[in-house]
Amino acid sequence: MVSRIEEAAYTASQSARVAWFVSHFYAARRMSGPLTRDGEAPFKSDKPVPSREEIAKGLRELFARDLRHAKAGLYDLPTSTLPRLDRAVRNSRRFLGDVPEHDRRRSERSHSEVNVADGQNFYPPYYLQNFHYQTDGWLSEESAKLYDFQVEVLFGGSADAMRRQALVPLSEFMGTRDQRKVRLLDVACGTGSFLRTVKDNYPRIPASGLDLSPDYLGHARGRLSRWWDVEFAHANAEAMPFEEGEFDVLTCIYLFHELPPEVRPVVAKEMIRVLKPGGQLIFVDSLQYGDTEGWDGLLDYFPEGFHEPYYHSYLSEDLEHLFKENGAELISSTPAFLSTVTVFEKV
Ligand SMILES: C[S@@+](CC[C@H](N)C(=O)[O-])C[C@H]1O[C@@H](n2cnc3c(N)ncnc32)[C@H](O)[C@@H]1O
Repeated sequence: MVSRIEEAAYTASQSARVAWFVSHFYAARRMSGPLTRDGEAPFKSDKPVPSREEIAKGLRELFARDLRHAKAGLYDLPTSTLPRLDRAVRNSRRFLGDVPEHDRRRSERSHSEVNVADGQNFYPPYYLQNFHYQTDGWLSEESAKLYDFQVEVLFGGSADAMRRQALVPLSEFMGTRDQRKVRLLDVACGTGSFLRTVKDNYPRIPASGLDLSPDYLGHARGRLSRWWDVEFAHANAEAMPFEEGEFDVLTCIYLFHELPPEVRPVVAKEMIRVLKPGGQLIFVDSLQYGDTEGWDGLLDYFPEGFHEPYYHSYLSEDLEHLFKENGAELISSTPAFLSTVTVFEKV
């Protein structure tokens, strides 16, 4: 049940969140140089671009849907969507302090300034880059500390609400199953924000998280330290250290648009390998071309402002075909603002 007071608190805190993160987006833009170099014509997509009003409407619809799902008992709303004031100020200073570095890399087109002090050979070359705002790439404690704030800035405060949409198919999958017997793996769990949401909703699920960044995993471990039944693996999603059919359900959020096209089938195959027959993969990533009518042009702009070397190819990746080839059927595909939630089942 969501009480009237909780509903009002949710609406007020989401509005404050959006204002906070959108203002950081514009502050970062103001602190940065032009998107184009001297003499270059600004990029213009030949596809339709939604107006600001349409984007704002899409955002409101996402929050309305989030609330509806909570009211329907599909998941709990987070107890607080606002961070503590001291933490918010600290993160804001950190974020704004890092903007000139991001801007310098962008204007110099230097996107391989990563922290590879340890184990250079362990990481595939595509991984050793600065994706979007990420100073040091995925490989420093500072990058891990900043990550969640930066992602919320990118998505105008909607990232957590979009991730929560993965809880809808998860709640359908859980149905009357005994939580203790459902093994869940979050592939590319990053700093653990989605895994924590899973455990808040299903405290008895034995959950695992896998990621290639030791620093992001360290952050995730801290976040989930109150649960004894959460395990983490520092590994490449291309070769996961798990047995065939070990998991009932896999989640994977915002990984595939950061993989080169030739690596996606390898990871897709590996994910389906570790799923049990009848098990489901709940997959959340960027909208793709055609997912939301009239929005394709907006997607074209993302790699203009941020280093996203594989994003364009992701926009037309045929996910249904990719997973079907590896033994999983498409069950559903549901756009949620700037993301799409897609569900596959291993046959
Ligand atoms: C955009 S972040 C998404 C993190 C998290 N799922 C979320 O919702 O915020 C991408 C994550 O994928 C991880 N990653 C990228 N390539 C990987 C690979 N080949 N194997 C495992 N993790 C990888 C990165 O370390 C990073 O944590």
